[in-house]
Amino acid sequence: MKIAVFGAGYVGLVSGSCFSDMGNSVIIYDNDSEKINDLDRLKIPIYEPGLYDLIRKNHSEGRLQFTNNVKRAISESDLIFIAVGTPEGEDGSTDITQVIQAAEIIGRNLDKYKIIIIKSTVPVGTNESIKNIIKSNLTSEIPFDMVSNPEFLREGTAIRDFMLPDRIVLGSDSGKAFEIMTDLYQGIAHTENPIICTSIQNAEIIKYASNAMLSARISFMNQLVPLCEKYGADIKEISKGMGYDDRIGTKFLQAGIGFGGSCLHKDVSSLSYILKENGFDNSLIQSIIDINKKQKIFIVEKMLDKMKELEGAKIAIWGLSFKPDTDDIRESPSIDIISELLDYGATINVYDPQANNNMRQIFPEVNYFNDPYSCAAGCNAIVLVTEWSIFKNLEFKKILESMKDKFLFDGRNIYDKFDMNHLGFKYYGIGR
Ligand code: UGA
Repeated sequence: MKIAVFGAGYVGLVSGSCFSDMGNSVIIYDNDSEKINDLDRLKIPIYEPGLYDLIRKNHSEGRLQFTNNVKRAISESDLIFIAVGTPEGEDGSTDITQVIQAAEIIGRNLDKYKIIIIKSTVPVGTNESIKNIIKSNLTSEIPFDMVSNPEFLREGTAIRDFMLPDRIVLGSDSGKAFEIMTDLYQGIAHTENPIICTSIQNAEIIKYASNAMLSARISFMNQLVPLCEKYGADIKEISKGMGYDDRIGTKFLQAGIGFGGSCLHKDVSSLSYILKENGFDNSLIQSIIDINKKQKIFIVEKMLDKMKELEGAKIAIWGLSFKPDTDDIRESPSIDIISELLDYGATINVYDPQANNNMRQIFPEVNYFNDPYSCAAGCNAIVLVTEWSIFKNLEFKKILESMKDKFLFDGRNIYDKFDMNHLGFKYYGIGR
């Protein structure tokens, strides 16, 4: 099929390159010419495992192209995916300006029947208003169909998630669009990973409800952390004991330093905002965000309690990205933690395998290192913020010898507390 993707961001690049790898002809459009030129020279703006290879292969074989010529992107395609950003407004609402702009351009340039698919995460009702915007910009009576096709990619495993999805959600009111879209996804849908054809409104809400449910599970576990600590329980054992119940399952029950990333926070805030705007109770959804906000700095309170003084202390932060295998620091707990520690007058050393450069834009004043050893040397404490695999098997004796004090705060509970205490660390996990 001939596909145009609007937006060379995270979702656009991953979806576009995967569609091309499935044998389709894909053209990714972005109005940022510098980004397009970079992509044409195989300079990829984000770090995502496997993405570079996928783009290189399909670009060199001619199935994947990049352009800032919008007319070309539209005229050379039968399906147009809108995958532009929908950032969070100040009040928690969703800013859909870029989706509206894309709709206006598509409307003005539509030359024959096409399917317009919204992949960007948008509040319920948006597909309907975007349909009207496209209609009002048409230069002649050209038919088109709308499909809501939310994405469920996780950063770090996005290509795998695309190629082996749990489910594919298609929302539309057109039988023809369902037929074409089902064809498109045929290669990657299976009996246990079905294509769900539903209404546009259902598809829009499924996306928000899914991210809110995932976040709710994390905040639920995080709320139990102080209780576990007070009574000497271990939150990891609690998760395990709960997870064996088939109805609950094991995933997204890891307590820690709060969830980060651009999506969970933004989507839960948006859902909370929509409920409130409509005059409905949003207390449960809102509490997910409130608990998470507190959880991000819980570890600093613990440090203060255990170390007594943070002013003048030298702290090593291991990991900056909001999760491993990405350089994305949006909404990362590391930002809140560093900010708090700086306010207390601590000196900060940091190391992340991929995200040092991104963090430099926010905290130019902290010390950046290229390995965990030099980052920890001379420090009073280490704070494990992101569970990159490099942090799991280190020469801990060497690290201990180089440190001034032996505090180790494990924000992700990746270490065995008995082993770490035995080695000589003053080890503190979360909720254990
Ligand atoms: C999330 C969803 O998982 C995707 O399905 C969705 O497509 C995506 O948002 C989106 O809307 O674009 P992502 O933000 O990439 O994906 O990452 P997650 O794997 O969901 O992790 C989010 C945060 O939750 C991370 O900071 C992670 O450390 C934290 N987390 C996750 C926990 O604290 N505990 C857990 O048990 C699981």
